[in-house]
Amino acid sequence: MKIILTGGAGYIGSHTSVQLIRNGYDIVIADNFSNSKPEALRRIEKLVGMSVPFYKIDIADKEALSELFEAEKPDCVIHFAGLKSVGESVRMPVEYYRNNIDTTLTLLETMKEYGCKKLIFSSSATVYGDPASVPITEDMPVGKCSNPYGRTKYFIEEILRDVSKADPTLSIVILRYFNPTGADESGLLCEDPNGIPNNLMPYIMKVAVGRLPRLSVFGNDYPTHDGTGVRDYIHVVDLADGHVAAVAYADSHEGVETINLGTGNGYSVLDVVHGFEKACGHEVPYVIAPRREGDIAECYASPDKAKALLNWEAKHNIDDMCRDSWNAISKNPDGYPAD
Ligand code: NAD
Ligand code: WQD
Repeated sequence: MKIILTGGAGYIGSHTSVQLIRNGYDIVIADNFSNSKPEALRRIEKLVGMSVPFYKIDIADKEALSELFEAEKPDCVIHFAGLKSVGESVRMPVEYYRNNIDTTLTLLETMKEYGCKKLIFSSSATVYGDPASVPITEDMPVGKCSNPYGRTKYFIEEILRDVSKADPTLSIVILRYFNPTGADESGLLCEDPNGIPNNLMPYIMKVAVGRLPRLSVFGNDYPTHDGTGVRDYIHVVDLADGHVAAVAYADSHEGVETINLGTGNGYSVLDVVHGFEKACGHEVPYVIAPRREGDIAECYASPDKAKALLNWEAKHNIDDMCRDSWNAISKNPDGYPAD
């Protein structure tokens, strides 16, 4: 089966590329490098020991995407391409709606034109907003998102449900990721965010490697075991394997299915800081700072549906995530080199 990965040069896409190839799939990567670098492709190729077809295109560019489908005739698409910074989306909502929704619509039009029926979409636990209870199951209410980025994911999910209703022969899997972190154990692939990171693990990594002075812990008065926010961190290689399982599922089912990809375990900010200190062998300086607007106390997945439908569950624990994150940042303290 041939699979196009839009946004395949990014953090999750690059790890998924490797896991798909290791599982015998033919892949084609399409990315415009708006938040990634060509070096990611070279690292993927080094890891799998073969060359990987690549198209530098904007997924919202209809003509370019049609040329890609014409040349490659894919059976399935995994749609990672999108802008993903929560804070940036608050400052630049139009760019976020334009990029995330346009890429999806152009992709859906092109898939229809070329008879491509299988789609896996990168959604996010952010669509649950502030959940009434944890663990979060897929049938809990969605849409009360605290920022434009989250709303792009919610709107796209709704679009996909409409599209599935109109054509029940399509096979669409919406994956709601919890908090992806870690890296391939080789340390060749890394998360390489532009500028100062927003997310916890990339920030801790930059502090641990001496590129930032200290972490600000956003709030220590939440109703959690140590007062700091609790999240479901999931190793990116487990997440990538979840996509491999989702492709197999899409190949044998029709309709639309929405599935959480998380571990089912919640860790606090301080749990992660201390786990990272264990991995890197020195202290990670931090200060307690005010709560960050839009943050919630606690968020972790029910992984039961993923286990039942995909026969998939996360294998790595928080110590593995800290170890592999430390290995990746130690080998790439300034991210990937620019071309
Ligand atoms: P990333 O920024 O590393 O990867 C996204 C890739 O898409 C980048 O390589 C970027 O250059 C590319 N891209 C963006 N717009 C494009 C366009 N118009 N045309 C072509 N390429 C384009 O992000 P990631 O962490 O790998 O996330 C992948 C997907 O998963 C995103 O849709 C993101 O919203 C979603 N997601 C991420 C997280 C997370 O915490 N990392 C959590 C939940 C969901
Ligand atoms: C985790 C915890 C913070 C940074 C975001 C998106 C979500 C998804 C994953 C894309 C929280 C605390 C963080 C820091 C801190 N992405 N923190 N100091 O907010 O759970 O989810 O990324 O879909 O949509 O909202 O992840 O890593 O930003 O924060 O104390 O410098 O770490 O308050 O408790 P979040 P995060």
